[in-house]
Amino acid sequence: MKIAILTSGGDSAGMNAVVRSVVKAAILKGCEAWIVREGYEGLVRGNAEAEGTSSYAPPVVPHHSEFPPAAMDIINNLRFGDGELLRDGTGDYSHGRTLKGRYIVRVGWDDVRGWFTEGGTLIGTARSKEFRTPEGRLAAAHNLIKEGIDALVPKATTHSHLKIVGLVGSIDNDMSMTDLTIGAPTALHRICEAIDNINSTAFSHSRAFVLEVMGRHCGWLALLAGVAGGADFLFIPEQPPKSQPWEDQMCEAIHQHRAVGKRKTLVIVAEGAHDLDLQPIRAEYVKDILTDRLGLDTRVTTLGHTQRGGRPCAMDRILPTLQGIKAVEALLEANPDTPSYMIGIQENKITMVPLIEAVAMTKAVTTAIEEKDFEKAMRLRDPEFRE
Ligand code: F6P
Repeated sequence: MKIAILTSGGDSAGMNAVVRSVVKAAILKGCEAWIVREGYEGLVRGNAEAEGTSSYAPPVVPHHSEFPPAAMDIINNLRFGDGELLRDGTGDYSHGRTLKGRYIVRVGWDDVRGWFTEGGTLIGTARSKEFRTPEGRLAAAHNLIKEGIDALVPKATTHSHLKIVGLVGSIDNDMSMTDLTIGAPTALHRICEAIDNINSTAFSHSRAFVLEVMGRHCGWLALLAGVAGGADFLFIPEQPPKSQPWEDQMCEAIHQHRAVGKRKTLVIVAEGAHDLDLQPIRAEYVKDILTDRLGLDTRVTTLGHTQRGGRPCAMDRILPTLQGIKAVEALLEANPDTPSYMIGIQENKITMVPLIEAVAMTKAVTTAIEEKDFEKAMRLRDPEFRE
């Protein structure tokens, strides 16, 4: 079997660890491992630009009929040397000097060596406009068929003509039917470090800080950072402040904290936060309220993409490694009747759930929020929730 992997959408720490794991698990299972560079954009472009120019002949990959089930075996089996394609004589893939218009590329064991420590995605990602058009999808399908790819491991999405298994890389932890998405633990860790830094300067000056964190429509990062960093008040999309106007509720809580002697104040605002009427709650506005009503010397810090970049924490190396192995197993077990799976984790166990169901459940959260059914939105975030 030829298994291809691509990364798409926003990058996250741990994506390279997934690629490494899928490539190595595929090779250990006797499959060919391929990558698609630049996400769905690469799928659309294929290898047309380089057609006829490559004299590359893929090396013979040792066949392993027995796949060792544990990640330990991957670590202990570093003995292949079929990674010449990405290196292509220069020994340097990550600076993109070697692939010359080839977007669907066979890779070997050595190509992904050490990738679990690297941030972002080394095979590139893109939000492809072309792939959203029927022509683009047709070109993508054609390119996969041309290269003889049987199976694809993308970030969660759906197709019908291929065996598909989705892995979810997202700092937002916004996918239903899984406890954790790849990259979310690292992003949370970054936020906690930033809060520690903010806390010390806030304490010195007895200041208030309003911290805006990412998460799109999901409040997971804000909520957990609030718990881990000791926030005084926080705003998340799934559960807006219950009272309207919320300004009174926030000021009352912070006033009480100050009254018992707190020298610093931390308010966390998820970027997708809003009030009960779905009016956005902005960090700058929160700052003005704290300044004007409570007389606090207040600053705003927006962490932005610092939350997304950088080296993955341990969990974002372990989780993708285990999930990558599971993804390959799922592809090899798949028959025409098996649905496409999403690989998740629930209660510390790596899981496989129908991809379509997980995507539908995730969309249902945003719909519940749009319909102001915040209780339902919170229930839907529970990985075990079924309607
Ligand atoms: O989905 C990940 C994420 O970082 C969100 O938290 C954020 O809203 C968005 O992507 C930012 O996207 P971009 O990198 O395109 O600015």
